[in-house]
Amino acid sequence: MEYHKPVLLKETIENLKVEQGNKYIDATLGDAGHTLEILKKGGEVLGIEIDENALKRAEERIEKEGLSKGFKGFLGNFKNIEKIAEENGFKKVNGINFDLGYSSYQLEEGGLGLSFQLDEPLDMRLDKSLGVTAGDLVNSLNEKDIANLIFNYSDERLARKIAKAIVKARDLKKIQTTGDLVEIINSVSSPGYERGRINPATRTFQALRIIVNDEIENLKKSLPQAARLLLPGSVIALITFHSLEDKVAKEFGHRARPSVEEVYKKPIVPSEEEVQHNPRSRSAKLRIFEKR
Ligand SMILES: C[S@@+](CC[C@H](N)C(=O)[O-])C[C@H]1O[C@@H](n2cnc3c(N)ncnc32)[C@H](O)[C@@H]1O
Repeated sequence: MEYHKPVLLKETIENLKVEQGNKYIDATLGDAGHTLEILKKGGEVLGIEIDENALKRAEERIEKEGLSKGFKGFLGNFKNIEKIAEENGFKKVNGINFDLGYSSYQLEEGGLGLSFQLDEPLDMRLDKSLGVTAGDLVNSLNEKDIANLIFNYSDERLARKIAKAIVKARDLKKIQTTGDLVEIINSVSSPGYERGRINPATRTFQALRIIVNDEIENLKKSLPQAARLLLPGSVIALITFHSLEDKVAKEFGHRARPSVEEVYKKPIVPSEEEVQHNPRSRSAKLRIFEKR
């Protein structure tokens, strides 16, 4: 399996202004696409990753590239970034990178139950110590709560219909796999769903992933901590992939002033060339926050 193609790599690295011997935190290590570039430029990196399997992959890749010397991997949640950084000798750093979401490995190779394109247990937890799976949610919440969850976290217009179909289906048989859920969603969406632009399961799966992994709260908790770790003049580079994440980023930019300023008026987006080469970058937005 190919490695995840890093999104907005050049733009992120340029803005981090990586220098030999300086310290950086990659809060979302993934396949280490961003980390490797920092290491190649002589930066030291603390790479945080919540998924055990992903951390192993990244460590092996960095080792293979002969860049392990400047690298420290840590299995954990970036919502605890301050504590993790302090405990690992990264109390004051020259830059922090967040590249939110999931790697193509996690989505395409399976094992986590994240994707509507594979048929697997309906889990979605990146961190297996979390208590509640996506399966638990769809099998236990009431219809109204399911509809609200789907609508609030994905703007799915068919949220009510999907919730109704979920409750009807689970009365007959417990919903166990991603395939079961896809079938239920397909049963209420028309062939012309969103003009064929996205799969009818895209939004519902997005909403469930966000809730299961508490993604919005994690980001809200993490950004002010990250700002405290930065040395003056250094930046947080934050790549978001949907409007809920970007809203948290924008609000942080307003609230953190004047000790942190958003550098550009508008987010940096991928070039047409990047989108062509890597369609997953399509919805990416990079915001840069500088510590004053
Ligand atoms: C888009 S991928 C990062 C890809 C990486 N920049 C690269 O180029 O290879 C996002 C990664 O962040 C991890 N992740 C998501 N939420 C996290 C959290 N709260 N704490 C730590 N890691 C998290 C995911 O498991 C995933 O591996």
